[in-house]
Amino acid sequence: MLQGAIRIAPSILVADFARLGEQVVQAEQSGADRIHVDVMDGHFVPNLSLGAVIVEGLRKVTRLPLETHMMVANPDLFLDEFCEAGTDAFLVHWESNPNLHRTVQRIKALGKRAGVVINPATTAAVLEEILPDIDQVLVMTVNPGFGHQHFLASTLAKIGRVRHMIKEINPACDLEVDGGIDEETAPLAVAAGADVLVAGTSVFGDHRGVAAAMERLTAAANTAVSQIRK
Ligand code: DX5
Ligand code: ZN
Repeated sequence: MLQGAIRIAPSILVADFARLGEQVVQAEQSGADRIHVDVMDGHFVPNLSLGAVIVEGLRKVTRLPLETHMMVANPDLFLDEFCEAGTDAFLVHWESNPNLHRTVQRIKALGKRAGVVINPATTAAVLEEILPDIDQVLVMTVNPGFGHQHFLASTLAKIGRVRHMIKEINPACDLEVDGGIDEETAPLAVAAGADVLVAGTSVFGDHRGVAAAMERLTAAANTAVSQIRK
């Protein structure tokens, strides 16, 4: 299986918000590829989280791409606002959107990267028609709405199916996974085909600090890559 170098996308949902800027700078200095911002509206998922003001604040402290994971009932309503705040990539759920193609075209017209997210119970097959138009697929490895959840091993076979589809249809597309990614689960996700790992608790919740956590997670992921390429 051919996939690119493994990249880490720290998720600020579980960061220490009193020290958010500092923690994001530490993640950048520790080799993070992008910063993952979880936006929740209390409708699409049973939780509230962050608004565009957070993206605006982060834009001032980091040069890393900011990707916004839209766990909201109607992502179209918020694209302009988040775009102006400094979002570089939008991740929109297949489940929240009967007009996904239109939303993806709007994101591209704004000059931003477009990604489509699928929940654990959603089949990989729904990606087939939209795959040529997008830059990222995000496979949820927990049910969206909360950090600190356990990785669902039942998603591994689907990650493999998505990797196969990407290879056939759009090899430049990222295959990202989100939820419960840590030193134990990262190698499983990478072996299944993931090349971008969203990680919240395992990066910002590690008492040894962000730099040590990033180092351990990257090492675990790269071990899996070297085994795949043997
Ligand atoms: C869950 C979010 C994730 C979450 C990841 O709905 O989409 O990005 O913050 O956090 P951990 O790594 O703790 O599962
Ligand atoms: Zn997320």
